[in-house]
Amino acid sequence: MKARFAVIPAAGKGTRFLPVTKAVPKELLPIIDVPALQLVMDEAIAGGAEHIVLVSSQAKPGIEAYVRPDAEIVQRVRASGREDLADRLARIGSDVQVSVVYQDEPRGLGHAVGCARSVVADEPFAVLLPDEVMGDARLITQLSQSVHDTGVSAVGLMRVPRDQVSAYGVITPREGDSGPGPFGIIDVVEKPREQDAPSNLIIIGRYVLTPDVFDHLDALVPSANGELQLTDALREQAMLSPLTGIMNKSARYDTGTPQGWLTAVIDIALQRGDVGPALEVWLRERLS
Ligand code: UTP
Repeated sequence: MKARFAVIPAAGKGTRFLPVTKAVPKELLPIIDVPALQLVMDEAIAGGAEHIVLVSSQAKPGIEAYVRPDAEIVQRVRASGREDLADRLARIGSDVQVSVVYQDEPRGLGHAVGCARSVVADEPFAVLLPDEVMGDARLITQLSQSVHDTGVSAVGLMRVPRDQVSAYGVITPREGDSGPGPFGIIDVVEKPREQDAPSNLIIIGRYVLTPDVFDHLDALVPSANGELQLTDALREQAMLSPLTGIMNKSARYDTGTPQGWLTAVIDIALQRGDVGPALEVWLRERLS
């Protein structure tokens, strides 16, 4: 079965984006004029999602406000000539169901995903972290196909320089798996020291998981930093049977940090017909 559900955890504190996140959730930061959350929902839908489960926090009412259907706003966007954007907005809550569930406190990504259990129940489901924006829906589509074909969870991967591994979840590939993948994953470790890292292959914020992961999430105990880690539940799954890792081949922007967000805005703006050409002229002049 392909993943019909897409879980988008958006209940975190957004510490790295203070003070803006005092009032504005980082998931709603604009990529030009569209919130990162909209881009990630568009990706989920392009990847086959029919039902989006947003995990939010009572402290972030803007998230729920954004996904509330609003025919007047759609009409105003349409009247301004932006038909494609109006269609994307109109899908939310009509073609695609959206549920909002609340995480009482930001107790970690594993806990946030576990909060979606009551909606997802017993089907494979996608997880898309909304502070990572992708250039297209290729990876999430491949992950969903992989789970359909194999019946085991699949995660997106990328290689990083070894001195950066300590910021990420790092995989142990099955012996002999190398090159462009796909990889069998026999273990996962969160934020290892550089010298202890089993590889330089990190898990990025795109997953399609089989529903047995919910039992592992329910059994999680806090890690060293006090958070309930999704990585620890994946590790439990990998111990029972290797997971699949698929290398990301699309553009990826980490919009959870000011530097990554700025890069995303500039790069995506340069690709847009309405603002790109003028921005390019200005940048060339500015940098010459
Ligand atoms: P991050 O760790 O990047 O988000 O989690 P954060 O905790 O908000 O960021 P910092 O470190 O304080 O700056 C990735 C995604 O998971 C969500 C976040 O909202 C983000 O979109 N998340 C994280 C939750 O929903 N609940 C949590 O307990 C933790």
